[in-house]
Amino acid sequence: MERMTVLFVALFLNFASTQLVKGQHGKDCQTNCGNVSIIYPFGTSPSCHYSEDPTFKVTCDKREKRLSIFDGIRSLEVINISRSGELRVWMDMVYTCYNNEGNVSEKSYRNYTLGSFSLSEKNKLTLVGCNAFALVSTFGMREHATGCLSLCNSPSAENVGCKGGGCCTTEVSPLLGRYEFEIDSVRLDGFPSVHDFNPCTYAFLAENGTFKFDPLRDMKNLGNVTRFPVVLDWSVGEVSCNQVGNASICSGNATCVDATRGKGYNCQCLQGYHGNPYYTPLGCKDMDECSMGRHNCSRSSTCENTLGSFRCKCPSGQRLDTSNMSCKTKDPRWPTILLGTIIGFLVILLGLLGVQQRLETEEPEIQEAPSQVL
Ligand SMILES: *[C@@H]1O[C@H](CO)[C@@H](O)[C@H](O)[C@H]1NC(C)=O
Ligand SMILES: *[C@@H]1O[C@H](CO)[C@@H](O)[C@H](O)[C@H]1NC(C)=O
Ligand SMILES: *[C@@H]1O[C@H](CO)[C@@H](O)[C@H](O)[C@H]1NC(C)=O
Ligand SMILES: *[C@@H]1O[C@H](CO)[C@@H](O)[C@H](O)[C@H]1NC(C)=O
Ligand SMILES: *[C@@H]1O[C@H](CO)[C@@H](O)[C@H](O)[C@H]1NC(C)=O
Ligand SMILES: *[C@@H]1O[C@H](CO)[C@@H](O)[C@H](O)[C@H]1NC(C)=O
Ligand SMILES: *[C@@H]1O[C@H](CO)[C@@H](O)[C@H](O)[C@H]1NC(C)=O
Ligand SMILES: *[C@@H]1O[C@H](CO)[C@@H](O)[C@H](O)[C@H]1NC(C)=O
Ligand SMILES: *[C@@H]1O[C@H](CO)[C@@H](O)[C@H](O)[C@H]1NC(C)=O
Ligand SMILES: *[C@@H]1O[C@H](CO)[C@@H](O)[C@H](O)[C@H]1NC(C)=O
Repeated sequence: MERMTVLFVALFLNFASTQLVKGQHGKDCQTNCGNVSIIYPFGTSPSCHYSEDPTFKVTCDKREKRLSIFDGIRSLEVINISRSGELRVWMDMVYTCYNNEGNVSEKSYRNYTLGSFSLSEKNKLTLVGCNAFALVSTFGMREHATGCLSLCNSPSAENVGCKGGGCCTTEVSPLLGRYEFEIDSVRLDGFPSVHDFNPCTYAFLAENGTFKFDPLRDMKNLGNVTRFPVVLDWSVGEVSCNQVGNASICSGNATCVDATRGKGYNCQCLQGYHGNPYYTPLGCKDMDECSMGRHNCSRSSTCENTLGSFRCKCPSGQRLDTSNMSCKTKDPRWPTILLGTIIGFLVILLGLLGVQQRLETEEPEIQEAPSQVL
């Protein structure tokens, strides 16, 4: 009896999950929030996002036209989502300000827990300030810390970028994975005061290339910037492509690729296909390279779409020159000349043969004649 119940429950669950999968991403699913596209597996409601993982739930503030993810601690505003497995969010910088005596007057710090997301290798931790360090530390399952240190007693005279003189950066992503982490900036004790030109120390994560250090502007007050774009990697599930096999959510005309970092996998349209590789009813469709201008046929040839690729066609009587994809008239002179040569050669050959044959039949008469005379 117990076994029957278990079986029944199992059947019911199986049925329910099938229903859920089929009901995914219905027609009512929101596809935009402000100017950010919402693509499956992300969605604003349980029937619209990948149901197995609540981290794919996004929230759209309709009035402010802002899309955000919830990382378990706080909301992070989304900048954009890419199908290749990246998500850009805004993350606040943190700061510690000091008074004349060197005591903390104001402080902010942040902790994050990224759930199914992990910090991309494209991010860097940056510190702006003198005689200070910035620190990213993980806690929970694994405790680690890394950071960078900046020592200086005067503002940098030249603008050489974030290479000392009040600014340092370091890579942090290998450490962080999917752990909860906090970010902090702290002044070192026992150094001469830098308060008059650098009252606060700042630390932030930012996508490589999005921050250009300018000592004159940033040492006094980090511009008026309070947040930076940070790239997060996202992936589906906890297991690799091999392990998930054909139970992956990847659609037709798509392949499974292992997540570059962390666990899980991503889906990718086959070459020459485009669409949403994560959602079977949409899936990846053949790309019409011809109408999209993604072909290299020259003007003299005609582009013809094929599944997954394209072909350059030439009018009859012409052939494709693959070195520059242009059509070339099949040169008619060469075959004529060749044929002419062959015929001419044959004629000469036949003529010669004829002459030789005649000579051969005549020769004995000539040779015999004198013998007869003799
Ligand atoms: C989206 O709109 C905001 C302003 O509403 C703008 O600052 C931002 O640059 C836009 N992003 C893109 C990718 O167009
Ligand atoms: C996302 O935003 C970044 C920076 O604004 C931009 O470089 C990138 O091309 C965008 N990606 C997509 C998929 O829109
Ligand atoms: C600064 O901190 C020290 C202890 O660390 C304290 O004795 C001192 O009164 C503080 N000064 C101010 C102005 O708050
Ligand atoms: C993380 O930040 C939240 C909100 O600021 C706070 O409630 C929580 O205690 C912090 N967690 C840790 C471990 O510091
Ligand atoms: C960061 O960007 C610079 C140029 O913008 C590039 O030279 C460097 O390789 C990048 N580093 C990483 C880790 O992407
Ligand atoms: C930020 O500062 C610049 C000058 O450094 C100024 O032109 C701009 O208006 C400021 N932006 C805001 C939002 O305050
Ligand atoms: C995967 O596909 C193969 C052949 O297409 C099939 O035999 C197998 O049962 C499938 N496995 C699962 C878990 O669906
Ligand atoms: C694969 O691509 C072809 C060509 O666009 C399309 O007809 C077919 O429906 C696609 N298959 C799936 C499962 O989306
Ligand atoms: C044209 O494109 C095709 C397919 O992308 C490629 O194989 C070929 O080498 C290209 N030819 C030239 C001349 O660029
Ligand atoms: C393509 O290359 C051939 C020689 O390989 C040349 O004769 C022809 O003019 C080229 N066509 C174009 C459109 O550049």
